[in-house]
Amino acid sequence: MKSTILKLILSVFIAFNFSCDSNHSDKEVFIDDLLSKMTLDEKIGQMNQYNGFWDATGPLPNAGYEKNRYDDLRNGMVGSMLNVIGVENVYALQKIAVEETRLGIPLIFGFDVIHGYKTISPIPLGESASWDIKAIEKSARVAAEEAAAAGLNWTFAPMVDIYRDARWGRVMEGAGEDTYLGSVIAAARVKGFQGSDLSDFSTIAACAKHFAAYGFPEAGRDYNTADINKYTLYNNVFPPFKAALDAGVKTFMNSFNTLNEIPATGSKFLQREILKGKWGFDGFVVSDWGSIGEMIPHGYAEDGNHAAELAINAGSDMDMESSLYVTELQSLVKEGKVEEILIDDAARRILGVKYDLGLFENPFKYCDKEREKNVIGSKENQLAALDMAKKSIVLLKNNNQLLPLKKKGQKITLIGHLANDNNSPLGNWRGAADSNTAVTVLEGLEAYGENSITYSKGVDLYYGETNFHSRVNLNHTDKTGFKEAKIAAKFADVVVMVLGEEGFQSGEGRSRTELGLPGLQQELLEEIYKVNKNIVLVLMNGRPLNLTWADKNIPTILETWHLGSQSGNAIAEVIYGNYNPSGKLTMSFPRNVGQSPIYYNYKKTGRPGASSAEVTTSTYADVENSPLYPFGYGLSYTNFDYSELKLSGDKMNRKNMISASINITNSGDFKGKEVVQMYIRDHSGSLARPVKELKGFELIELNPGETKEVVFQIDNSSLTYFTVNDKWESEIGKFSVYIGSNSDVQKNKSFNLTN
Ligand code: GLC
Repeated sequence: MKSTILKLILSVFIAFNFSCDSNHSDKEVFIDDLLSKMTLDEKIGQMNQYNGFWDATGPLPNAGYEKNRYDDLRNGMVGSMLNVIGVENVYALQKIAVEETRLGIPLIFGFDVIHGYKTISPIPLGESASWDIKAIEKSARVAAEEAAAAGLNWTFAPMVDIYRDARWGRVMEGAGEDTYLGSVIAAARVKGFQGSDLSDFSTIAACAKHFAAYGFPEAGRDYNTADINKYTLYNNVFPPFKAALDAGVKTFMNSFNTLNEIPATGSKFLQREILKGKWGFDGFVVSDWGSIGEMIPHGYAEDGNHAAELAINAGSDMDMESSLYVTELQSLVKEGKVEEILIDDAARRILGVKYDLGLFENPFKYCDKEREKNVIGSKENQLAALDMAKKSIVLLKNNNQLLPLKKKGQKITLIGHLANDNNSPLGNWRGAADSNTAVTVLEGLEAYGENSITYSKGVDLYYGETNFHSRVNLNHTDKTGFKEAKIAAKFADVVVMVLGEEGFQSGEGRSRTELGLPGLQQELLEEIYKVNKNIVLVLMNGRPLNLTWADKNIPTILETWHLGSQSGNAIAEVIYGNYNPSGKLTMSFPRNVGQSPIYYNYKKTGRPGASSAEVTTSTYADVENSPLYPFGYGLSYTNFDYSELKLSGDKMNRKNMISASINITNSGDFKGKEVVQMYIRDHSGSLARPVKELKGFELIELNPGETKEVVFQIDNSSLTYFTVNDKWESEIGKFSVYIGSNSDVQKNKSFNLTN
């Protein structure tokens, strides 16, 4: 009671203290007034972000740094904190900022709410495979409600990087290889996090990251150099960031990599010319963890002072954990190396987002212990996570319809460390999830069926605890579990094998040079196959893997990613047919790592070649060019038949449009969902054009025997790209339209774009 009265008095005081001569509706007047009261140091303080005293998500400065930070906090030299967990901790730090600093400017608290806060949904690569935009937005909404209930006001998501190389561990964090789908999902996630009213206590500011081209590291090695040409940047990398901005995203995060020899954190081109200039972004840019200071090892900045100068001049508004703005900017301004107006601009942008969040009205609005208790981990949120998880599962193979399994009367042997692992399914970037809280496959199968299930681990995939900072300690030698597993498998009606990656084997810093099943899992799979061929392979992984052997030998393969808190229940619902799998891959699965980077919207080259038999063509001598499973691929327990594609005409100009229509019939026995995909090929242009590009999709649901017509409208915007004239425009000529169930669709109809 006392604390409530105190909070009330405090809120009135703050509201009064921040009252200005015009009403709060005029954000600019409010901020101008506040800025006019601030010293240079206090403005610089807003640009400084410190890690909280919970887990760090990057390299930390030397020990004992905490004391100075509390001093900085009290002196108004901190504008934001990250990785502060829980209302109590947020409240304590906010109270210092509001009551003990000269101007009482509230902090903004950020956290990586990437796929859930405490209730964990599938990793974003998994969610994107649902192609269910509403469900993806809802998932972000749930994550935001939990994060806000925990006192947070800002998430470092969505990660909207486009990427094509599964060696890069952060493919788990985005929406796959395609720009069109990535843009649609970027907007949906921003809307989910930010809602319709950012000042509402259940909404949080989102952050489009990592700007830009972080997904194109050479050799798939994290943080590595990204050298891409301007047209790939504009046509493939920028659009999801622009979609996030158009959806109202309040913050951007720049990236660790150099883009064409300049670190993104120090890139005026990216941050001032494009983002704040051409695109008119009015939020703020936060650096990535320590990325300002990292311009020194990049060989771009001489020292910390130079790095701070480069970063602020390039448009990096907030310094995450390099502590260089608070130590260097004051002198840089005094020496005239940095204009004070740049400091004013950065501070204004940061104060603007705090204003939009309502933090000046009530800095403690996110600090409600009742709400924290009631919202976080609620049954409703768990059900939302289960729904999202089911929709993210992709059926890659189901020969002789081994799936769905009967719910009773079957002898099932379940094999694999991951089958009874309640931690790995949480994946990397698992927010504030408690460890070991995911439903396992064993628990799910027992909960949803009445079969006798024999579990045998078969092999330790890894040993000991795992976390964000450490390499997973893989087992490469101990096969003592094989014998028991083979005996358990021998007389089973069906063997369900759950293999893949431990939850921290993908994500930041998790680059791999091989894409096979880690450890001894492949050997175990082949040994079990020798005693029983009726295997359902359930994959748990954060990236495309090399499944060439499995695809050749294993009758049924289910891609389940790291599905989050409800993993085992979702997998069981699909295995038992409660939910007919509807997912479609958003990243190509290579036949082997040598094909990486591999993606569906490739350029044909001048010597495309039909097979490796044609030596002097752009083919490999040892494997075909095509991926094992293409972008957009996913099966169902039912069948969908596509009619002939129809176009409403064979030519159009830039002012009118053409419609492309097709009928889809569910010719199988199960109700099911299908993602109908529309691709367009531009046969020639002022730049070499890709073989096809996704330009539309529709998620439909059909009962057995039902037929539905799907129609796509093709207008000039579908044919526009960033051309050699450095303009977004269409170019007249021949186009072909493909509509199908994945990017490998061949049937098409053509039309001409005329002036
Ligand atoms: C990390 C990541 C970034 C994350 C930030 C804060 O290094 O690159 O995506 O948001 O630091 O945790």
